[in-house]
Amino acid sequence: MIIAVDGPAASGKGTLAQGLARHYGLPHLDTGLLYRAVGLAVRDAADTPQFEARAIAAARALDTAHLTDLEALTSAEASVLASKVAVIGDVRQAMRQYQRDFARQPGGAVLDGRDIGTVICPDADVKLFIEADSKARMERRARQFEAKGLPVDRYALYHQIEERDARDRANPHGGFYKAADAHLLDTTRLDIEAALRAAVAIVDGVMAGKAASKGA
Ligand code: C5P
Repeated sequence: MIIAVDGPAASGKGTLAQGLARHYGLPHLDTGLLYRAVGLAVRDAADTPQFEARAIAAARALDTAHLTDLEALTSAEASVLASKVAVIGDVRQAMRQYQRDFARQPGGAVLDGRDIGTVICPDADVKLFIEADSKARMERRARQFEAKGLPVDRYALYHQIEERDARDRANPHGGFYKAADAHLLDTTRLDIEAALRAAVAIVDGVMAGKAASKGA
């Protein structure tokens, strides 16, 4: 079973995807980490004419076995750099096959990102599109940073999330929109457990429907 989970920054999609993977015993890929790793690899070329070529080279050379420095990968700086390399078509192209192979491993997988249900796995068994209002998303991200003991400027964080959303939604190479067959889940008023229960109910419902239509 392949489960595609897409949604904007800090919508809770990563936590939900992890929870779904645990629930169904499937491997999980956070595809945002790939873009974050490429972004960090070229941070010293940011705002230079070499940025694009360097980002493409970094995406082609990306060693997916070494996405382990989660402190750096989940930093605010990495988020912004990720969304800048993510608008480069050849960067996306370089990492597409790896994501598709991950999804198609025996037994399936859960992948989360922006374009999983639209570009990476258009044939996913279940597609979820996660939403939450911008203030709720900012507050979640702020608490994550605070839990790590990092200082948080909520005003700046809110604008950074809005800016990143706008760049992601306008990305001509991105595929960041709700697929026609994706199920919308708004987590604004849900805690993690309630959101996971709702996601599991959607997945179980879709799979039961498929089983029934196969049997019919
Ligand atoms: O999901 P996360 O916030 O870690 O993603 C970081 C950035 O990577 C996003 O803002 C987006 O620009 C890019 N991204 C993408 N496609 C994906 C996953 C992430 O463009 N599938």
